[in-house]
This record gives sequence, structure tokens and C-alpha cells, in this order.
Amino acid sequence: MSDDARRPLLQIIVASTRPGRVGEPIARWFADYARAYEGFEVEIVDLAEVDLPMFAEPEHPRFGRYTLDSTKAFSAIIARADAFVFVTPEYNHSFNAALKNALDHLNREWAGKPATIVSYGGVAAGARAAEALWPVLVGLNMVPVPAAVPIPFAMKNVSGEGDERVFTPAAETEGGAKAALDGITAWIEKLGLQGTRS
Ligand SMILES: Cc1cc2nc3c(=O)[nH]c(=O)nc-3n(C[C@H](O)[C@H](O)[C@H](O)COP(=O)(O)O)c2cc1C
Repeated sequence: MSDDARRPLLQIIVASTRPGRVGEPIARWFADYARAYEGFEVEIVDLAEVDLPMFAEPEHPRFGRYTLDSTKAFSAIIARADAFVFVTPEYNHSFNAALKNALDHLNREWAGKPATIVSYGGVAAGARAAEALWPVLVGLNMVPVPAAVPIPFAMKNVSGEGDERVFTPAAETEGGAKAALDGITAWIEKLGLQGTRS
């Protein structure tokens, strides 16, 4: 096993699924930041690519008895993570429906893992989305760290076109990302998650 493979796996969940989403360049920025921070293996999980149907499992996900191939595939992805970064837009004063649908699909795969929230929107920086998401993460037995990353007017910090779009963070946004990763690192150590991934 390589040194990198022994690092905890940090998954960055891209919640927005719409064409032209700001969330995608923000997630790529955070992934690069987390790699440079060192200490994590980093993976982006894009809900647009995962493309889950609206939740349609007959049993509660806590039993893990999934019937749909789409749920089984998503379960395998999330199960391998040690920690999560949820990159969420604010839609109508909350986080977006695709993220709730994805969270509802699974149960044990999320549990016992630290998480942080990167939120964005207008002047409120997605704060209402983050506040709405927090109790959902707790309800799924995740450990959301107090250091979150609210980004006001994120679209103003995105330049370029298409796949080449780049999010350039303000200094305080980078500071927030560091604090969030520090918080996740502390919980990974407390929870003994490091190196437990197969
Ligand atoms: C359906 C919808 C609802 C929105 N509601 C809010 C809102 O309540 N508060 C806010 O600050 N921005 C709101 N916005 C603006 C979004 O935060 C902004 O468009 C952002 O770029 C969306 O993220 P995305 O580009 O990654 O999808 C809304 C946008 C959409 C499409």
C-alpha cells in the first residue's frame, strides 16, 4: 500500500447538478486546496455524474438492503470515504434537493464521519443552506465541524469558460478552508479513522 493510500479519504460532494453550476469550479478549488494541505487522499463526487433517481428504495436505508443498482453504486462510493466536504448552493433559503435526495439514499455509509459545509449564494453566502444542512448531517450521525466555509457572491470569483472555469478564493475563504480541514483532521484522529479504509 502506498503512503497516499493510507491517508484518510476526503470526498468533496458537488451538490449542484445544473448546467453552468458555480459549485463545480468551487469544488475543484477545494480539492486542490485539500491536496496541497496534505494529509488527505481527495476525491470529487459529483452528484450530476452520480445521477441518482428520486429516492425509490422500499426499505429504510439503515438496513442497507438496496434494490436499485444506482443505490448500490452510490453506497460503494460513499462507504469508502473517511470524511466529507459538502459544496452546496443556497436554493430558496435551503440546500438543494439533489443533495437531500443523495443524503436520504444512504445511512450507515455517512455515519461516524466528520464533515464540513462549503456554502455559497448571494450576500448571505449560503448561510441558510448551511444552517439547514447541519441538522441533517447530525441526523445521519455525521460529525459536522463548527468551521464551515461560507462564500458570498461566489459567482463573482469565477472566471473563464466551461471546464476551464476557475474559482479564485478571497483570503478569508482560504482561511475558512484551512480551519475546516484542521477541524476534520482533529476529528479523524479522535475517531481513529485514519488508515481504517481498505
Ligand atoms: C432555484 C434557485 C433558487 C435560489 N435561491 C437562492 C436563495 O435563496 N439565496 C441565495 O443567496 N441565492 C439563491 N439562488 C442563487 C444561487 O445561489 C446562485 O445561482 C448559485 O450560483 C447557485 O449555485 P450553482 O450555480 O452551483 O447551482 C438561487 C438559485 C436558484 C437556481
